Amino acid sequence: MTEMTPVTEATAKKAPTLPDAQTITQVKHWTDNLFSFRVSRPQSLRFRSGEFVMIGLLGDNGKPLLRAYSIASPSWDEELEFYSIKVQDGPLTSKLQHIQPGDGIILRPKPVGTLVHDALLPGKRIWFFATGTGFAPFASLLRDPETYEKFDEVVITHTCRDVAELEYGKQLIENLKSDELMQELIGEEHLNKIRYYPTTTREESLKMGRITTLLTDGTVFKDLGIAPINVETDRAMVCGSLAFNLDIKKILEDFGLTEGANSDPREFVIEKAFVG
Ligand code: A2P
Repeated sequence: MTEMTPVTEATAKKAPTLPDAQTITQVKHWTDNLFSFRVSRPQSLRFRSGEFVMIGLLGDNGKPLLRAYSIASPSWDEELEFYSIKVQDGPLTSKLQHIQPGDGIILRPKPVGTLVHDALLPGKRIWFFATGTGFAPFASLLRDPETYEKFDEVVITHTCRDVAELEYGKQLIENLKSDELMQELIGEEHLNKIRYYPTTTREESLKMGRITTLLTDGTVFKDLGIAPINVETDRAMVCGSLAFNLDIKKILEDFGLTEGANSDPREFVIEKAFVG
C-alpha cells in the first residue's frame, strides 16, 4: 500500500488544459483493485453529501470519457475525494488507476443523486448499506454533521469479498472517531454512536456472510443489540451492485419501508455503485 503523495509545484505543472479540468492532489492504492484519490474543487461547486458527479479523462479519440462517481468527501471539504474500482480492461479505470498528483482530470460540476437527506422522511435511526465501492457516498454522509443532526443512531454496513477491501471504510471510520476536527464539527458523543458492521463473503473475518442474509435471519440486530428495522423509526440508504440493491429493496419493503426520491421523500433511497 502506498502512502498519499502530496502535490508539488513541479507536478502541478503537468496538469493539461482540459474542459472542466481539475488537478489530482493525492492518490492512494488500497488493493490491486481499489484506489482513492483527491481532486481540487471548483470554487463554484456546491453539492449535497451523497451526490455524484461525472469525472474522467480524454479518451484515445480526444473526446472526454466520463463516468459517474459518488463524491466521497463531505460537502464542507475544500477538496473532492473519490473511491474507485480498477477494471483492467475498463475504458476509464484502466487509465484512471495510473493518475498521479499533479495530473489533470475532467470534472463536470453538476452534482446529482438520490442518496441525500432531502429524499428521506425524518426518523431516529439511519442505515447505510454498502457493498464494495458503494461505500463512497457514505464516506461523505458519515462526515456530514447533518447526518447526526437528523438521526440519533447511525448504522453503516459494508460487505466485501475480502478483508483488504474493507480497509478504506475501516480507516475512515477510525479516523472519524479520533480526528479533532470531526469531534469539533460533529461532537464526540455523536461519533461514538456510529455502529460499523463490516462483513466478508469470500475470506475469513470476524463476521462472514452477505448483509442480506444477516438482516433476514436477524443476526445483525442480535449482534448490535438493537431492535429490528421499523417503519416508524428507521430510514435507509443503499449503494451497491444492481443485484444487491434489488435484494435489499425487497428486504426493506418487507420491513414496511417504501422507496423515496428527491421529489417524494420516504423511508429509503437507493443508488447503484458505479463501475467503469
Ligand atoms: P458474494 O461474494 O457472496 O457474491 P462484487 O465484488 O461482486 O460487487 O460483490 C461485493 C460484495 O457484495 C461481495 O461480498 C458479494 O458477496 C456481495 N453481494 C453481491 N451481490 C449481492 C446480493 N445480491 N446480495 C447481497 N450481497 C451481495
